[in-house]
Amino acid sequence: MGRKKIALIGGGQIGGILALIATQKELGDVVILDIPDFENPVKGKALDIMELRPHDGYDAEITGTSDYADIAGADVVIITAGVPRKPGMSRDDLLEINLNIIKNVAENVKKFAPEAFVIVVSNPLDAIVYAFYKTSGFPKNRVIGMAGALDSGRFRAFLAMETGYSVQDVQCLVLGGHGDEMVPLTRLATIGGIPATELISADRLKAIEDRTRMAGGEIVKLLGNGSAFFSPAQSALEMAESYLKDKKRIIPSAALCEGEYGIDGLFIGVPAVIGANGIEKILEVKLSDEEKAALKVTVEHVAGVVEETGL
Ligand code: APR
Repeated sequence: MGRKKIALIGGGQIGGILALIATQKELGDVVILDIPDFENPVKGKALDIMELRPHDGYDAEITGTSDYADIAGADVVIITAGVPRKPGMSRDDLLEINLNIIKNVAENVKKFAPEAFVIVVSNPLDAIVYAFYKTSGFPKNRVIGMAGALDSGRFRAFLAMETGYSVQDVQCLVLGGHGDEMVPLTRLATIGGIPATELISADRLKAIEDRTRMAGGEIVKLLGNGSAFFSPAQSALEMAESYLKDKKRIIPSAALCEGEYGIDGLFIGVPAVIGANGIEKILEVKLSDEEKAALKVTVEHVAGVVEETGL
């Protein structure tokens, strides 16, 4: 059996880091695909990573292309094609342009990599992953959006920064859409198995919760020209790895809900079990009335953006 194959659609900021981390994690061969105008830059990134490998002994092949035939047989496809936010923009402002792009990408992925597990990263995430699902006709267990992994990672980072304890020992869950109305479940956050509510004051927890919701925008503002790319790449690869290695990790992800949490027909951030069969299960956690109300707000927001796709 040869190596696994990972196709990256979009070889910009996130795509480049995805290629690097996938190589370092030795997940398989990597193909970076971008539009013809960007073929040379992605070939350059691929060659640069090929030349990095001897320093640490990775054996995968990394290639750049603008020809979809080169993604044939991909086990995993990660889509970052599209434009990122600029300061002052919301993720929803990207809908029109990224919707056109994802429709084109979906047709091609369907044609050239019909068996792949597809991870969508492009924003506005919940609507773009929905558009991929609708356009491609892929089964729901093989289409997933990367958002909750990143949002809960940010929440974990802030809780670790607050306490000074290891990020490794912080666990938490963020539900809902990938927007400022997402629902960090502070009640369930633990640090070393101890409820975070016992270690951090209610005021500070509230501040951390708010920072988590706005964390993407905080980085957009600092970068000045683009959005976060290191942590989104790592988060997407964590999902790819759980699929490729059948780890059955529980990762907050945008998955198609059909009744779970009372949501029907939308991709919303929920705890998903990711294994060899893709999304193997959505776990349901009992919510308080307040959490239910907060979830309803984010779901309605996502429904509004999805409505605008006309799909
Ligand atoms: N097919 C393939 N690639 C495309 C297409 C297309 N139709 N249209 C655009 N691209 C490529 C661009 O040429 C660019 O190289 O997608 C890449 C996007 O890279 P960046 O602009 O650097 O954006 P990045 O920071 O990687 O973010 C990508 O992920 O987090 C989201 O909001 C973010 O929607 C954005 C996406």
